[in-house]
Amino acid sequence: MDVDTGIDDAVALLLVRSVLGEGLRMVSAVSGNVPVERALENTRRVLHLSGADEVPVFRGASAPLVAEPMAALWVHGEDGLGGVELEPSPAPPAGGLDELRAALEREPAPVALLATAPLTNAALLARWDPRLFARRVERIVWMGGSWGRGNDTPAAEFNARVDPEAVHIVAGSGVPMTMVGLNATEGCPLDDGDMERIGAVATRSARLVATMLGYEGLRRVNRDFGGVVVHDAIAAATLLWPGEVTATRRYPLTVDLSHGPSYGATLTGPVATGPEVEVAVAADRVRFAQRLASALARLP
Ligand code: RIB
Ligand code: CA
Repeated sequence: MDVDTGIDDAVALLLVRSVLGEGLRMVSAVSGNVPVERALENTRRVLHLSGADEVPVFRGASAPLVAEPMAALWVHGEDGLGGVELEPSPAPPAGGLDELRAALEREPAPVALLATAPLTNAALLARWDPRLFARRVERIVWMGGSWGRGNDTPAAEFNARVDPEAVHIVAGSGVPMTMVGLNATEGCPLDDGDMERIGAVATRSARLVATMLGYEGLRRVNRDFGGVVVHDAIAAATLLWPGEVTATRRYPLTVDLSHGPSYGATLTGPVATGPEVEVAVAADRVRFAQRLASALARLP
């Protein structure tokens, strides 16, 4: 996974760990919701809480390829986890992108990359060693983009807006990519009933999720959706259960690199040109909520 651990990245990490166990092979942190050091620390703490200290966590890029670093502290809190204090992990970070590349090379089989953040790390790897990237990454599921309005600017979703050039590079890398954007995730909120069910699960992982999803900043940005949209966990469900939680269609993808008001817009559909990607077009809210609650019950 590639994350900018914030609240919904944390939920996605727990969901993947619960369903795949040791199939969660490695995680890299990147600058996005919070600075990369904070994302690295948050990721290690969430993995520690879920009993996953053996999963190597790498420190990735501290800034986008071209644009200036951004953050979303008003959504995720200064610490990125809605103010929840977690125990530090005893497992040291596994290194930087050099070590991540070596770890990818050592993997016995190609990996699927779940990216729930700006795509800076993936773009750097793809440009640094295109053959390694194509050989070792079999597909990418990315939470990002939107075929409609954005949530960072009117035109662009946050992960796309932070590093539009990275989206352009990764989409054009030749590795099959699925884009799980706002048009799918915003139709899949966790409502009050779902939150009660999660809060009733007697595991520390479920308690963490219930607490984080109650963070006032997150609630505020979700006030129009009838519940809390856990964007990154919906992307995780797309990878874990293909075709069961989200439906996708294949479209060309164009990323706006104009450095104007629509910088980072992801244009898909018949009007777009560029490499074809699978675009999530709908998500099953009930099925997602059920599977998330069950997954949290299986964690410590
Ligand atoms: O637009 C939602 C995305 O931006 C999520 O990945 C969230 O964590 C933020 O990074
Ligand atoms: Ca994220």
